[in-house]
Amino acid sequence: MATQTPDFMVIFVISSLGFISLCKPLLGFIKWVWAMFLRPPKNLRDHYGSWAIVTGCTDGIGKALAFQLASEGLNLLLVGRNTSKLEATADAIRERFGARVESRNVVVDLAKTSGEEIMKTMEGVIKELDIGVLVNSAGLAYEGATFFHEVDSEVVESIIKVNIEAATWITKAVVPVMAKKKKGAIVNVGSASYGGFFSFPFFTIYAASKAYLAMLSRSINLEYKKAGIDIQCQNPCFLATNMTEFLFESSSLFIPSAETFSKASLQWIGYEEQLCVPYWPHSLQCFVMKLLPDSFKDRCIFLYFSRMMKNIGN
Ligand SMILES: NC(=O)c1ccc[n+]([C@@H]2O[C@H](COP(=O)([O-])OP(=O)(O)OC[C@H]3O[C@@H](n4cnc5c(N)ncnc54)[C@H](OP(=O)(O)O)[C@@H]3O)[C@@H](O)[C@H]2O)c1
Repeated sequence: MATQTPDFMVIFVISSLGFISLCKPLLGFIKWVWAMFLRPPKNLRDHYGSWAIVTGCTDGIGKALAFQLASEGLNLLLVGRNTSKLEATADAIRERFGARVESRNVVVDLAKTSGEEIMKTMEGVIKELDIGVLVNSAGLAYEGATFFHEVDSEVVESIIKVNIEAATWITKAVVPVMAKKKKGAIVNVGSASYGGFFSFPFFTIYAASKAYLAMLSRSINLEYKKAGIDIQCQNPCFLATNMTEFLFESSSLFIPSAETFSKASLQWIGYEEQLCVPYWPHSLQCFVMKLLPDSFKDRCIFLYFSRMMKNIGN
């Protein structure tokens, strides 16, 4: 009898540990299914306010998200650099949603305007509005895989100005307004290239700019959580937009259109995940990537991009 007790204890402890280690991935999977397919989107207008600011709204993800937000009844402050593209976007929104959605245009070239000027412009336009949501989607990358030292200086400057500086200064203009009314949601459109689980050679400056956005979002989310502001960085993998037209001719399950992505994106706005991959096939891709050894991933990504290099042979 004396020898049976420890055996039983050992079996009990081992089975409990086994059960706990099985529960963790199971719970993770259940949470994933809930967030991806079952969780209802937040009513952004009721929850946060009646106006949404969208940068990069003249194309791609920003444009598609502007339409999604309008379909939720939010009025739009459309931020872009090109007057005719801005007007075309506003006209298309008016045509689709009529008088239900009000929109105003803010013309500003985020690559050519100083951060402080961008902030002052935004502070001026949002003063009288009930700003509920900010989407920082404006962004650019380079057209083709390029060695770090060969990236055109103007492109380097634009990436830093638009992807990093503009998002920072616009957020800086909006946060006090949201904090004052104790509610607001901010979505920074990052990228799965931001790192953490793989490198992104030949698009280094772009990927590094997205790492900045991820850290900005994650940290200020903690700073302003108690002030009622939900800040999130959404990190898609590849999409079929202007930005990637040199890579993909059309959309597919794993390379969705901006419209498909924006539907998934809307489902996540305001929820607690500071960093997220809202479109499920992208999330699956990231899951598989995380399982692979770093050296293998780095080698594959390096080979993939080096094959498409503009200056092959250099
Ligand atoms: N496509 C992808 O595979 C992918 C993947 C992950 C993350 N993202 C991110 O998603 C965001 C949107 O990308 P997208 O694919 O939708 O690209 P896109 O179709 O090229 O749209 C980019 C938007 O940013 C605006 N923009 C660029 N430079 C600007 C400037 N100097 N001033 C003001 N606006 C400017 C563009 O305005 P114009 O219309 O005037 O050019 C356009 O509205 C970016 O932040 C990107 O990094 C994209």
